[in-house]
Amino acid sequence: QRYCRPLLLCNGMMGSSDGLQIQCYQCEGVNYDCSTPEFIVNCTVNVQDMCQKEVLVKPDGTHYRKSCASSSACLITSSGYQQFCTGRLNSVCISCCSTPLCNGVKKKRPVLSAAASSRRALLFLTPPMLLHLT
Ligand SMILES: *[C@@H]1O[C@H](CO)[C@@H](O)[C@H](O)[C@H]1NC(C)=O
Repeated sequence: QRYCRPLLLCNGMMGSSDGLQIQCYQCEGVNYDCSTPEFIVNCTVNVQDMCQKEVLVKPDGTHYRKSCASSSACLITSSGYQQFCTGRLNSVCISCCSTPLCNGVKKKRPVLSAAASSRRALLFLTPPMLLHLT
């Protein structure tokens, strides 16, 4: 429950009644992206309907904090910290998501496919350029 500390919105204020339970990764201030099975926890039914992920960039490296959260607490916290999510030193980024284990490692696929397609474009454009140089 320590994630709710700044907001006092935790104890079921927004709880739905459908018995929903999700699982999230949970870890506290570790210096690696804790997304392996030993960090999986069951969230509290009807109270914690989202997974939260905090990424802090400190002088000694990137730190991760993950947990279950209520959607109200997570969304308010993440929007409050949005101005600190700079990508630079002392950056703090907090994200919320609502599918099981969604606070795991961020998928890199879109970046890779963009790189692959630009490589293809480059190959396609190269022959005429060489022709001009000769
Ligand atoms: C989560 O709940 C499932 C089903 O109730 C149970 O089998 C599992 O052991 C629980 N996992 C943890 C980490 O508590």
